[in-house]
Amino acid sequence: MSPIRHCLSLLDFTTPELVGLLQRAGEFRRMRRQGEAHVLLPQKTLGMLFEKASTRTRVSFEAGMAQLGGSALFLSPRDTQLGRGEPVADTARVLSSMVDAIMIRAHEHRTVEIFAEHSAVPVINALTDRFHPCQLLADMQTWLEHRGPIEGRTVAWIGDGNNVCHSYINAAARLGFSLRIATPAGYEPDPGVIEAAGAEVSVLRAPAEAVTGADLVVTDVWTSMGQEDENARRLKDFAGYQVDQTLMNQAAPDALFMHCLPAHRGEEVSAEVIDGPQSVVWDEAENRLHAQKALLEFLIPR
Ligand code: CP
Ligand code: NVA
Repeated sequence: MSPIRHCLSLLDFTTPELVGLLQRAGEFRRMRRQGEAHVLLPQKTLGMLFEKASTRTRVSFEAGMAQLGGSALFLSPRDTQLGRGEPVADTARVLSSMVDAIMIRAHEHRTVEIFAEHSAVPVINALTDRFHPCQLLADMQTWLEHRGPIEGRTVAWIGDGNNVCHSYINAAARLGFSLRIATPAGYEPDPGVIEAAGAEVSVLRAPAEAVTGADLVVTDVWTSMGQEDENARRLKDFAGYQVDQTLMNQAAPDALFMHCLPAHRGEEVSAEVIDGPQSVVWDEAENRLHAQKALLEFLIPR
């Protein structure tokens, strides 16, 4: 039997595997548009464990499994024994004896690692404090559909050096684009993530420096889930890091704008940019569905 594959970060995949997943994601998008049946995971079940809120991730995985002919179970710590202290490792053993894959959105990245260590089925990281690989599959699919291969292009990340930023670092390493990250002091990405990925990354202070000539400009919330207590300080610290039209005008003339959503208009991005012609955020959100179907097909043995 081949070893179980997990998706804890994008580094779990080779470049050809990622390129294949993105291509397949495009096929899933086309099949759905054309109403072509794609019952590829009949009778398979995905367990979905959410320690944090979600709109896109929950709906895309649940709808995706249904469209593939399988089913998905929504589980929250509040309603399971995890919330009453049952160890993660025990939960992983039990759940993985009953379902065909497990998707987890966890506060701590270590939780998904422990799950994977004790799971008999593939484990998918659906966001932790460290990475959000599923988001990057959708973002990279969106780029590919709008502009072709991203290799050799320049991406500017503006704002917090957070979980999504870390996954951009991994994507830069695997897909061969340059990444310029502009953050306020104290909000830089973890240098260990850059080192582990071996990515071509510049960590800068000035948003204008990062966006100059960039092909893609990306941002995310200033306060991620679990950091709500820091919100007032973060609003102050991130002043000057809003992606507005003046900043976008310094990027390449045909630059695209992405944001994983949910967005805060007037904080990390102006309404003019996110609702404007350079923004592809709605395709990006929809592509969560298609990219994750490609991921589920790749990971779940049949
Ligand atoms: N982008 C994203 O992961 O959205 P949700 O938090 O709504 O799942
Ligand atoms: N960085 C954000 C992403 C939400 C999809 C968070 O972790 O809350």
